[in-house]
Amino acid sequence: MSANMVEVRGLDVTFGDTRVLHGVDLALAKGRTVGVVGESGSGKSTLAKVLVGAVPAATGQVEVDGVDVVGAGRAALRAYRRRIQMIPQDPYSSLSPRRTVGQALAEAVDPVRARVADHEELIVSWLERVGLTADMLHRYPHEFSGGQRQRIAIARGLIIDPHLVIADEITSALDVSVQAQILDLLAEIKTAMGLTMMFISHNLAVVQRVSDEVLVLYRGQAVESGPVERIYADPQHWYTRRLLDADPGSPGFSLAS
Ligand SMILES: Nc1ncnc2c1ncn2[C@@H]1O[C@H](COP(=O)(O)OP(=O)(O)OP(=O)(O)O)[C@@H](O)[C@H]1O
Ligand SMILES: [Mg+2]
Repeated sequence: MSANMVEVRGLDVTFGDTRVLHGVDLALAKGRTVGVVGESGSGKSTLAKVLVGAVPAATGQVEVDGVDVVGAGRAALRAYRRRIQMIPQDPYSSLSPRRTVGQALAEAVDPVRARVADHEELIVSWLERVGLTADMLHRYPHEFSGGQRQRIAIARGLIIDPHLVIADEITSALDVSVQAQILDLLAEIKTAMGLTMMFISHNLAVVQRVSDEVLVLYRGQAVESGPVERIYADPQHWYTRRLLDADPGSPGFSLAS
């Protein structure tokens, strides 16, 4: 069994006749963050869905948190899915409009009973950790800004101490200044908790801000991967260079940090 949290080898995914991922390899050690970058349609979300067992692999090996995701049965996947948390792009559609923030978090902690009172201390500590306050416990999603809702989604994803967090374009719907705040928050929590994370974005500068390693996807193939510093200092593939050239001036762009 691998010591890595994620080990993907020779992954192919097809939808009908279309091959969406082709020969993708990825190894992610515990406590590290890999940024997955590539243009729209390059297969980033598909890769994430394979890791959570939502999309089947055509060929290849996929092992996450000690589970053979390709070969696992339904029961094994059900238990496994609780240890792997996705933070969605648009928390407005994933947070129920009829549930308070407290209820949404209680449901994450205890899907069966979901009583706020049973877990209030934990829930409030997570609200505070993501920069919100205890008095927001009983408010509904529409009473928050986009950035605040994304903070709630982060708290909901992390409150159960997941083994792997997958964040798919979680800042792309936000204003530039709010994006930077959310990225800083995530980077801070990640370091404090020693999270293992896959951070997906079409923007290499955004990816750089929270990642240790980068995987560049181009039309379903991993054209480049390596430590974030190396990718920035010495990109090997023309597509990576193009992504870098496109980045200056975009949110969070900084070669110094
Ligand atoms: N369920 C599906 N059935 C058929 N084709 C699909 C399905 N899901 C994704 N695709 C196709 O697979 C390719 C990769 O899609 P994917 O969503 O993984 O890209 P992405 O890199 O996440 O893009 P974006 O940046 O726009 O989110 C696209 O061409 C898409 O149209
Ligand atoms: Mg996507």
